[in-house]
Amino acid sequence: MSAAPLRPEQVDPRVDLGGIALRNAVLTASGTFGYGVEFAPFLDLRRLGGFVAKSLTLEPRHGNPPRRIAEAPSGMLNAISLENVGVDAFVRDKLPALPEGVTVVASVFETEVERYVEVVKRLTGVGRIAGLEVNASCPHVKSGGIEFGQNPALLAQLVRAVRRASALPLLVKLSPNVTDIGEMARVCEGEGASGISLINSVQAMEVDVESRRPVLSNVLGGLSGPAIRPIALRMVWQASRAVRLPLCGVGGIESAADAVKFLLCGATAVQVGTSNYLNPAIAGEIVDGIVAYAARHGFARVADLVGALEAPPR
Ligand SMILES: Cc1cc2nc3c(=O)[nH]c(=O)nc-3n(C[C@H](O)[C@H](O)[C@H](O)COP(=O)(O)O)c2cc1C
Repeated sequence: MSAAPLRPEQVDPRVDLGGIALRNAVLTASGTFGYGVEFAPFLDLRRLGGFVAKSLTLEPRHGNPPRRIAEAPSGMLNAISLENVGVDAFVRDKLPALPEGVTVVASVFETEVERYVEVVKRLTGVGRIAGLEVNASCPHVKSGGIEFGQNPALLAQLVRAVRRASALPLLVKLSPNVTDIGEMARVCEGEGASGISLINSVQAMEVDVESRRPVLSNVLGGLSGPAIRPIALRMVWQASRAVRLPLCGVGGIESAADAVKFLLCGATAVQVGTSNYLNPAIAGEIVDGIVAYAARHGFARVADLVGALEAPPR
């Protein structure tokens, strides 16, 4: 049963994502929003709960050669890989270019635990960073290429090490390419993560029949966009059953209604990714739409929507 409707200005939009105080529940997803400034002509970045910057490595990287993006039914494939300016250039050039008051989450991506730790150390103590997101969907070189996020023991090692290296709020971004997301979420909780972001893109490929070649130079890529939303929702729901940590839901969000679905399934906040390419102002529109939904359904706080799904007991 819903309570009496409220006016939008009566709704408190703020949420706390594992110690990151967000002015609202909407962030933009790593790799789809550049370093923030690229989107400043389209929306006031301070309207967002926050944005997650492109994943940073120790040194600048170029990523994969073309072709590295392709259309897919209801989404896109990408194999950009690690292209980024590197952690030092981010701190020196990109952060100062952002307007004051923008909530920045820095994403970290590396191939070895020790290298993740070094990036995390270089980001810690830098005033403008509200929190870290460790992208655990990168192949671990010493283990022959298996993703950190696919092996519970490797994931535990990684989270333990970065947790020790920084007191900043620490989100761990999980890979969907696993059998049991609940197990991976429990590992993060056990090793002291502050929250979990899920999901990264879903491993996929596409083929050009005329040339009989894979479409992407890397053969494999990551599928994102609305095609993966039901998978992401399912995984957020399962993770919310497995842990008490706050969750940040990512995957195919195109509208406020989509974002609300993630909140109902147990996410404290959401990230908007591929949709930014279609409408660079979409994240701001989703902020307003969530508040309008909460008001219409009589929720005085957006935080009260979290886990409010009316699902049969299991
Ligand atoms: C072009 C592109 C680049 C991405 N780069 C990163 C990245 O650097 N780090 C990361 O954690 N996720 C990266 N992602 C994954 C997104 O952050 C997000 O998890 C995924 O796309 C699912 O959300 P969406 O369907 O809303 O795009 C990238 C996605 C795309 C499409």
